[in-house]
Amino acid sequence: MIAIGCDHAGVEMKKALMQALSEKGFELKDLGTDGEPCDYPVIAESVCNEVLSGACDKGILICGTGIGMSMAANKIKGIRAALCTDSFSTRFTRLHNDANVMCLGARTLGCGLAAELAEIFVTTGFEGGRHQRRIDLIADLENK
Ligand code: RB5
Repeated sequence: MIAIGCDHAGVEMKKALMQALSEKGFELKDLGTDGEPCDYPVIAESVCNEVLSGACDKGILICGTGIGMSMAANKIKGIRAALCTDSFSTRFTRLHNDANVMCLGARTLGCGLAAELAEIFVTTGFEGGRHQRRIDLIADLENK
């Protein structure tokens, strides 16, 4: 299950991603917004809680630039949110950073590219090994 949420800037992109990912066989849980203006940190928290509880494997957050969502999500302990703008970074943030949330900018990316990046994000595994030590060091930073 993939948790997905957006603010008012990302509604159309969220719909496009939900369609594209469900056509590929993924199940999605929509945490809003459906169109009404909202504050992106509220949506970020809802999506991240789904990931942290284990109800969802990964999260997708969309706002105008993806930046506000990534700032908000990365304040939440246990979340490793990546602002994804290209396929290489998207692949490697899964392989090396074990990112559990991706953030996308609805005003900076087209829906076709966003759907391609979302598919890469949800299908690429974490490499582990030396990268696990670095993930653990990120977790240590949360406790300082
Ligand atoms: C909303 O207008 C906009 O500020 C928001 O979607 C996002 O881009 C913030 O980072």
